[in-house]
Amino acid sequence: MGGSLAAGSYVYRVEPNWFELAVCRIPSRWLAPGTNLRILHLSDFHASPAIPFSRIETAIQLGLAQNPDLICLTGDYVTTNTQCDLKRYRDVLTVLPAAAPTFASVGNHDGGRWSELRSGFRTSARIRELLADAGIQVLQNAATEQEINGHRLHLVGLADFWTREFNSHAAFDGLPKQAEQLRVVLSHNPDTKAVLQYFSWELLLCGHTHGGQVNIPLVGPPILPILDRAYYAGLYEWQGRRVYITRGVGGVYGGIRFNCRPEVTILDLVPGESPVELTESQPRIHT
Ligand SMILES: [Fe+2]
Repeated sequence: MGGSLAAGSYVYRVEPNWFELAVCRIPSRWLAPGTNLRILHLSDFHASPAIPFSRIETAIQLGLAQNPDLICLTGDYVTTNTQCDLKRYRDVLTVLPAAAPTFASVGNHDGGRWSELRSGFRTSARIRELLADAGIQVLQNAATEQEINGHRLHLVGLADFWTREFNSHAAFDGLPKQAEQLRVVLSHNPDTKAVLQYFSWELLLCGHTHGGQVNIPLVGPPILPILDRAYYAGLYEWQGRRVYITRGVGGVYGGIRFNCRPEVTILDLVPGESPVELTESQPRIHT
């Protein structure tokens, strides 16, 4: 009985609040010698009764303390449409663009047919409005050119893969067929790489998997909402490019976590062409 209580307390209360700051250095051929670009990548806040605003704020503060040049958010800001005070949520999110330029894509829980069938929004319009009200630029099948910390780059954002809104051609329309500068893509679901492979980009940022939330030693995560289960958490070398999949901040199933801590991610882009080599903390490197 005591053991069950302790285990329950751990998976519901301890590990979900035990953030890991994952730091990866990623060489990019587009960066000039002696420069760098620090990206804060946050995903899957899942604001809900299981994931209070205070936990999201803790993650945000941990990330902002690393002084990012650029902030990228990759979806699932809520779990359903009825369990979140969106007015207060706006205030939670405004600190992000106040600290650094912030861009966002949406996820399957933010709206669309899949979401609607699970007490979610019919479309992602309300969540995109929330983000825009907070000063965050939403990239919904769209691209933008930015100059950040002296680096010119394109950011491309996709609608969620499980909705009818996903349109990769619209997202890349208007960009040179072959990238002529750094190009970072925000796409919630890592399975989208199967479609995105036909476009030119260097770094793809994803969430969605939560790393499985429960990761059984020697077995792995039993539940992953993806087709390509080989790509579920950490940094991957893939077709000469990089894919980063964060375990995210919040989660579903009451927010439980086991052997799969919530994550705040810093991606330090540095000049170079060599394969990914450096990590300052745990994140898995897959090549
Ligand atoms: Fe999620």
